[in-house]
Amino acid sequence: MSKISEEINKRKTFAIISHPDAGKTTLTEKLLLFGGAIQIAGAVKNNKIKKTAASDFMEIEKQRGISVATSVMTFEYRDKLINILDTPGHKDFAEDTYRTLSAVDSVILVIDAANGVEAQTEKLMEVCRMRDTPVLIFVNKLDREGKDPFELMDELEEKLDIKVRPLTWPIGMGPRFKGVYNLEEKGINLFDANKQRIEKDVISIKDLNSSVLDERLGESAADQLREDVDLVEGVYDPFQIKEYENAQTAPVFFGSALNNFGVQELLDKFVNIAPRPLGRESDKGLVEPEHDKFSGFIFKIHANIDPNHRDRIAFLRVCSGKFERNKFFHHVRQGKKIKFSNPYSFMARSKEVVDEAYPGDVIGLYDTGNFKIGDTLTTQGEEFNYKGVPSFSPEIFKEVVNKDPMKSKQLDKGVQQLTEEGVAQLFTQQPGNKKIIGTVGELQFEVIQYRLKNEYGASAEFHHKNYHKAVWLTTENEEQLDHFTRVKARYVAKDKDDNWVFLAESQFLLNQAIQDYPDIDFHTTSEFK
Ligand code: G4P
Repeated sequence: MSKISEEINKRKTFAIISHPDAGKTTLTEKLLLFGGAIQIAGAVKNNKIKKTAASDFMEIEKQRGISVATSVMTFEYRDKLINILDTPGHKDFAEDTYRTLSAVDSVILVIDAANGVEAQTEKLMEVCRMRDTPVLIFVNKLDREGKDPFELMDELEEKLDIKVRPLTWPIGMGPRFKGVYNLEEKGINLFDANKQRIEKDVISIKDLNSSVLDERLGESAADQLREDVDLVEGVYDPFQIKEYENAQTAPVFFGSALNNFGVQELLDKFVNIAPRPLGRESDKGLVEPEHDKFSGFIFKIHANIDPNHRDRIAFLRVCSGKFERNKFFHHVRQGKKIKFSNPYSFMARSKEVVDEAYPGDVIGLYDTGNFKIGDTLTTQGEEFNYKGVPSFSPEIFKEVVNKDPMKSKQLDKGVQQLTEEGVAQLFTQQPGNKKIIGTVGELQFEVIQYRLKNEYGASAEFHHKNYHKAVWLTTENEEQLDHFTRVKARYVAKDKDDNWVFLAESQFLLNQAIQDYPDIDFHTTSEFK
């Protein structure tokens, strides 16, 4: 096997996603603990925003600074190299999470056993479905009273629109929680509330009828388990790895992240079945990771919000070939040569300069304004762009109004840079060069206002616009598009890549436009299959 195939086979790049509070941060920390990346639980900085206030957000960003150690976490487990891509916990920053999902090969979805599938869970799942990303589910907080596990399975199937297959099964829950039964290995892991221990104590049970089961669990819990296992094996088809890889079936694990319970089962199975770095679609077709020339794309830009150090780090996912430090690569959009003398990787909690990186790796590149989210880097002579960092329609729209005419240049620059970082989406309307910012939540406007003032010295106000949705337009019929953009001049704008967008005031008006302009395609995301 070639060196590069060996490196590719070693890697697992994924994200942990959940509705806020389901236990994503806790699980991430426990996985790092198993990986030996950290010694004591509690070391992963909680990047959650407890209160919905910009000041909290700023405080957290300041603490994180440019070190961004928590954005990507790399550790070795067994003979694998695990890259966990962190996603923001706050729902107002969901767009950032969606983009991060373009850079992973699989996800672990955390569900709170009491709350089941929540609003954000469904949205995240939709994004996973767009790319057929394999999903593994961890049902968390079994140490608390939650929903009946069978009902939970039905809810997952129904609301997430995916087949599920439990691979472990809980024995009781809440105060009666005794442990989990591993359906494949036929062993019981007995529950012992312990937040930091990582070794485990598994009783192997070859025969569920064995009296050992009654001794260890008590008669009624043992009987319940026998009944449950019978039912599980009767109801669910055997687990097929192909179905998981094709995103048709999600294997399900139960546990309690806080108590470090069920996490080892999850991790062991994960390193066995999670896909290695996969090929990625470009505008010139699929690029396999084994393609011998380096390529990758930028999926995230993180700025230092300290005005004295206004540097940015662009996060690049390596997709093919080998990335090398100090070698000239090709910036496709700008059509220019570019090299990096200090590319970073994120081993455990520190960042270090790397000389080379392989498909599946994420590296941080110092950026002085060369990159936009979605940019592709290739090797000289390779002209293609990766697909798959789509924008979704924002939910809140506001027009930027300059409050300080002396600082209009700074304002323009600030708005331009912040939107390039992906803090919000920018739509520009003609005539008048009106700037409309679209976001998922109100919090982003506070953040933008704060940063414009703090980093660019510009004052802006935002005036609410009554738009319902941003819809991207494509057509082969230029005449019809031309007509549309003239008639609807007040409701059309260009996005950051100069694509036409219709800012519809209501679903009704959108439907009407769809009817009136049959040759125009209306898309709810900026990239189309
Ligand atoms: P998130 O990143 O998905 O938003 O969730 P996070 O891990 O921060 O967990 C949310 C809350 O749920 C935390 O409590 C955490 O301690 C708790 N939690 C996580 N896993 C379990 C579990 O297995 N059992 C129980 N009972 N609780 C769990 P918090 O009080 O909001 O925060 P903290 O003050 O403990 O950090």
